[in-house]
Amino acid sequence: MSAKPWGGAFDEKTDPLVEKFTESISFDHRLAPVDIRGSQAHARMLTKVGLLSEQECQLIVATLDTIGGEIARGEMEWKTELEDIHMHIESALIQRIGDVGRKLHTGRSRNDQVSTDLKLYVRECLTQLDQLLLELQRAFVDRCDGDADVVLPGFTHLQRAQPVMAAHYWLAYCEKFQRDRDRLADCLKRVNVLPLGAAALAGTSLPIDRHESAQLLGFVADDLSPAVAANSLDVSSDRDFLAEAIFDMSLIAVHLSGWAEEWILWCTTEFGFLKLPDAYTTGSSIMPQKRNPDVLELIRGKSARVIADVTQILTLLKGLPLAYNRDLQEDKLAFFDAFDTVYACVELAPRVVRRAKLQLESINARLEEGFLDATTLMEYLISRGVPMRTGHEVVGKLVRLCESKGCKLAELSLPELQVACDKIEADVSNYVGVRNVVARLSSFGSGGRNPVLERVASWKSRLQS
Ligand code: ARG
Repeated sequence: MSAKPWGGAFDEKTDPLVEKFTESISFDHRLAPVDIRGSQAHARMLTKVGLLSEQECQLIVATLDTIGGEIARGEMEWKTELEDIHMHIESALIQRIGDVGRKLHTGRSRNDQVSTDLKLYVRECLTQLDQLLLELQRAFVDRCDGDADVVLPGFTHLQRAQPVMAAHYWLAYCEKFQRDRDRLADCLKRVNVLPLGAAALAGTSLPIDRHESAQLLGFVADDLSPAVAANSLDVSSDRDFLAEAIFDMSLIAVHLSGWAEEWILWCTTEFGFLKLPDAYTTGSSIMPQKRNPDVLELIRGKSARVIADVTQILTLLKGLPLAYNRDLQEDKLAFFDAFDTVYACVELAPRVVRRAKLQLESINARLEEGFLDATTLMEYLISRGVPMRTGHEVVGKLVRLCESKGCKLAELSLPELQVACDKIEADVSNYVGVRNVVARLSSFGSGGRNPVLERVASWKSRLQS
């Protein structure tokens, strides 16, 4: 008997350097619990179709549980010559129960096995990530009440643009992370299609029941009917679900990175918008006054790794002929790295969101700067029949006038305003100044007081369950 489960036709031992080069146990041992679950379901399916007896099945299932316990307690020694987690578990099984264990791999190959394991694993990871993203959304929504009366300058091009209620700002991130959650949920539809039983690439002549396996492992469609991949050749090579999951995570990382960048700026003396709690900053070894936003910087920095993981998986896949190729073994590295990185960032982010303090004194002191009311003044003109382009020009000129006088639009006298446009009347005073603006922004989805209050209520009820 050859030492390798696949060694029957080989008459030379594998070079140890090749074993070291081709192993994946150093990283795929994370799949142990899902590999065991997959094998137990496979054994049950084989029993249902008569390829294993009831006693054989019970012995396999129980022994796999024992092996799983040992692995969880760190008692299994990983051996390079056993390549991967699948062979470790199978050989531990055979070691304990002999010929019965040698029946487990009936009607499957490692190709569909690894794909099944990965899908089970990815499903768990995406579910965990979804839960963390929900916590992050809650952290943003919970800020809305505390900052209910706060108005913030909104920026485009990082230049002051128009004012918005602070809650509008918090909810902007809720929306982004909701899309991220929706993407994960959508990805799960592709994850939840069973590869097992595609065997190496062509399926099997044995009377297996893949729909039973799908049911046992929870690979089901929205209507709860079993979802089984319908082309064995495709299954053997398919890592679309993994590429998708990594991309979805990269977009989460990119959203977090943009947020982190914004807050790094907001924490500067120059901005003075935000103060981070000491627990989420670090000091300098030489400059005693420093409080550096290292956590935010690392959230920004770590996004680079996840973006690299997307590139890795796509590049890995781009030149592969059907069906399984060993290149695919490297897929796990990209996924694990992306998941670990994004998980760590999303785990930390809600704490920072909850505890950062808006520096209201300095925000308010400069809130009327930057002509945040110019656009609403233009809209005042439009509502009095002035064509938009003309209104734009009129207000542009008024801004120039203010700049030369060193005053705000709200400080111009009525005669000064009327020189620029005779449609302006005394009620214009209700349209200029930041508070007036946020009271007037009213279109659906806008940053004004009333629409934002509605959105806060809707997000609160949405995130409760
Ligand atoms: N460790 C391998 C992987 O991750 C398992 C599949 C091996 N299949 C094979 N035909 N050599 O891809």
